[in-house]
Amino acid sequence: MSASPSNPAGATTPIFTLSNVGKSYPLARSPLERLFRRGSFHAVSGVNLDVAKGDALAIVGESGSGKSTVARMMVGLTQPTTGAICFKGDALGGMTRAQNATFRQGVQMVFQSTSNSLNPRKTIATSLAEAIGFDGVPVRQLLEMVRLPEFVLTRYPHQLSGGQRQRVGIARALARRPELVVADEPTSALDVSIQAEIIRLLQDLHRSAGVSLVVISHDLALVGELCRRVVVMREGRVVEAGAVEQVLFEPRERYTAELLAAIPKGIERLRAFG
Ligand SMILES: Nc1ncnc2c1ncn2[C@@H]1O[C@H](COP(=O)(O)OP(=O)(O)O)[C@@H](O)[C@H]1O
Ligand SMILES: [Mg+2]
Repeated sequence: MSASPSNPAGATTPIFTLSNVGKSYPLARSPLERLFRRGSFHAVSGVNLDVAKGDALAIVGESGSGKSTVARMMVGLTQPTTGAICFKGDALGGMTRAQNATFRQGVQMVFQSTSNSLNPRKTIATSLAEAIGFDGVPVRQLLEMVRLPEFVLTRYPHQLSGGQRQRVGIARALARRPELVVADEPTSALDVSIQAEIIRLLQDLHRSAGVSLVVISHDLALVGELCRRVVVMREGRVVEAGAVEQVLFEPRERYTAELLAAIPKGIERLRAFG
């Protein structure tokens, strides 16, 4: 068992690893532009991290630091340009059909906003049925897990509150009994009063259902509540990684300290959770 910067204790065998992962985009956005604009922009470079079973890992960093790109690569929505991503020892990209099916079932994403992830023309019942497939969690049990009343099934997304929609988004992610859920800013589109409910829900799923979590956020109080380990990103690179208590209360990097200072009352809120 190897210890790595993002898993200093090397506690358990990782189920998910990113090794030297990079993602670059061409600077030119059209074939015409490509004639005079060469080269590429590195959104993510040399990222190493791993997630053990039952782990809760946070990725923090300012806007544009590459957090969502990492999240999208982790769930297979974006292909890395360099490096390797492995789920249970199998590399994404080189998977057989069966391995790929295991990955698609085992790793799920919760998006910041449900406006892109939920089809506005489909009832919640239809959206959930699609996510459940033929062998997922029964719909009633799923509603119970995310604490939604049954009447939402006949509703369309626009007829629900933001908090209810995000619960549907979480239900969809849980529908096939995943081992790992990647949540990209799961509360930042919600009213402050609703945010705590969604955090509690994710916390329950992590603790009682044993789902491993990767939570991307710039809300460090959320991170402090939900996660055990933190990875700090800046300009596409990991600048600091370690246990929550160390990174948030005794940051080694000035950048991390500045991130913490940029959140009004952030540290006070965190200490209150202590
Ligand atoms: N599809 C894309 N094409 C070109 N550039 C992109 C694309 N997606 C993201 N980027 C750029 O990559 C950088 C990292 O973006 P992102 O991963 O969304 O950061 P974060 O989630 O930390 O705000 C940003 O500068 C962004 O503009
Ligand atoms: Mg983002």
